[in-house]
Amino acid sequence: MTWLVTGGAGYIGSHVVRAFQAEGIDSVVLDDLSTGLREFVPVGVPFIEGTILDTPLVTRALTEHAVTGVVHLAGFKYAGESVKRPIHTWEQNGNGTLSMLRAVTDAQVPNFVLSSSAAVYGTPDVDLVTETTPTRPQSPYGESKLVDEWMLADVARATGLTHTSLRYFNVVGSGSPELWDSSPHNLFPLVISALRDGRVPIIFGQDYPTPDGTCVRDYVHVADLAHSHVAAAKALEAGTALQPVYNLGSGRGVSVAQIMAAMARVTGIDFTRRSRRGVPEIRPESSRTARLLNVTWTGRCGTTWTEWCRTPGARAVRHE
Ligand SMILES: NC(=O)c1ccc[n+]([C@@H]2O[C@H](COP(=O)([O-])OP(=O)(O)OC[C@H]3O[C@@H](n4cnc5c(N)ncnc54)[C@H](O)[C@@H]3O)[C@@H](O)[C@H]2O)c1
Repeated sequence: MTWLVTGGAGYIGSHVVRAFQAEGIDSVVLDDLSTGLREFVPVGVPFIEGTILDTPLVTRALTEHAVTGVVHLAGFKYAGESVKRPIHTWEQNGNGTLSMLRAVTDAQVPNFVLSSSAAVYGTPDVDLVTETTPTRPQSPYGESKLVDEWMLADVARATGLTHTSLRYFNVVGSGSPELWDSSPHNLFPLVISALRDGRVPIIFGQDYPTPDGTCVRDYVHVADLAHSHVAAAKALEAGTALQPVYNLGSGRGVSVAQIMAAMARVTGIDFTRRSRRGVPEIRPESSRTARLLNVTWTGRCGTTWTEWCRTPGARAVRHE
């Protein structure tokens, strides 16, 4: 049993590789290092530098490593940017997934776990999002993830590929001292880099109909998320039928102000709230996922801060 992890040098993929290791399951990483880091791949895990768009390369990797399943995470993840870069987004996420499915079919790999996103829902008009909530993506990114799911289901129907697609909500934290989320757009890196640089983090919006007026989102810890991939992989290998789609979140909303308070507690830095207008977010009803994949929210942000503090230049916040 060997699993190929595309994007295994990235933020989530590197945690998935470690989750496989923790279960004693072999993995191989294929990554073009466009945003990932070579050092995120643990020593001893085979690493292939290349793009998922190179179908012959992927097919060779699958065959040479006798791969029995793929966790496909490689892609372009910025919803906002995707509006400005639709061709790039469709090439990486649409053509990239098509190339993966072609390679998997050619190499007769039997199992596939797709990294999808809550962006497929757009901005639904319900408080709690279930897997049956209508999908109305609002960006090329969300659209491309939905089309990826459809392509996977179509190929599975024709070939018998066993599969599932995991729709992540807000992925945060760090599960290992040497790993971090370097995304310039996500809340945790934004807050932590502001604190580290001595700036006061800004809260976007404080007049939402929520108890403290700030936006409520569903946050899932990256280590829990990674564990879910391995649970899915093991279930598929064991012949357990999975649903075509699972929401991966905690099922519990946490406000931006609560996150800020946790950050202040963990860092020991008492910073002032600032605000700007923003858009509301959504949270999933994830009981189906929790039941099947044993996901838990543990509200960890201390590890994230600890990692950033290791970086030279970390210092106390400046109050302006
Ligand atoms: N981070 C989140 O909050 C979040 C939420 C929902 C969905 N996702 C999805 O999870 C997946 C992983 O996200 P992440 O946060 O780890 O992002 P990331 O940018 O850290 O990781 C993506 C990895 O894929 C690699 N990659 C990109 N294009 C490639 C290509 N053409 N060929 C080979 N490798 C390529 C990058 O080098 C990187 O290592 C993405 O598909 C993303 O859309 C992430």
